[in-house]
Amino acid sequence: MSSIDSVLVASKETPTEALTDTVKAYLNSITDDLLASLPDADRLTPSERRGIIGRYAAVLEGNFIYWMTGAYLAAGSEEARSIITDNLLEEVRDSHPAMLRRFVMAANALPTEEDVLAVAPNLLEVRLFIGRLSAAPIMAMMAFFESFIQRFMPYLEDLARRQGSTEDEYTQVHGVCDIGHSEGLFQGLAAELALTLDSREPAEYLYEGVHLLRSLLETTFDGRSRVAA
Ligand SMILES: [Fe+2]
Repeated sequence: MSSIDSVLVASKETPTEALTDTVKAYLNSITDDLLASLPDADRLTPSERRGIIGRYAAVLEGNFIYWMTGAYLAAGSEEARSIITDNLLEEVRDSHPAMLRRFVMAANALPTEEDVLAVAPNLLEVRLFIGRLSAAPIMAMMAFFESFIQRFMPYLEDLARRQGSTEDEYTQVHGVCDIGHSEGLFQGLAAELALTLDSREPAEYLYEGVHLLRSLLETTFDGRSRVAA
């Protein structure tokens, strides 16, 4: 009996619900590990703090909406499209990139050339993955991204405060207020999984983008590229 079958027997969930729960648990464990690997903010120098915020901005400001648009273009289900549309509407109407820019400037942490170059190789890998427009793997990546961002906000806000900033709209909007977005993307993922139910284990086809994004986030935290030269 496969791991999915045993979950089904135990809970009487539908196959898609059981699979989504399995995926969610895996993505949460990656987020747990990433958050646990963050350097202690007390031990960071001002330059290291600035670097983390600057690289985060270099990754997020110009790419979040782009990648969410890729998820929209790839999605085959009406449910996922409708969830992504709501997400994009909020991003564009409230200009989350402008909100992020205000946050970064208030912390004196605009990305430098060095920041941009540090994340470039891993960023390119994620962009190329998005370009392949595989619906369920992109939804898995974006569900992971959104839930990671939401749990990362207290740390990011703490770094900015230590930089002398009092600007917290970006971190508040994406932290406590953003639990619904993460849940919505998991529903969208479930809809895509139901559409193309795959007999393979999730690890065989679903996590490429998740793993590429994890490497990019690790690079964002320490400035060291994870792509072999
Ligand atoms: Fe946003």
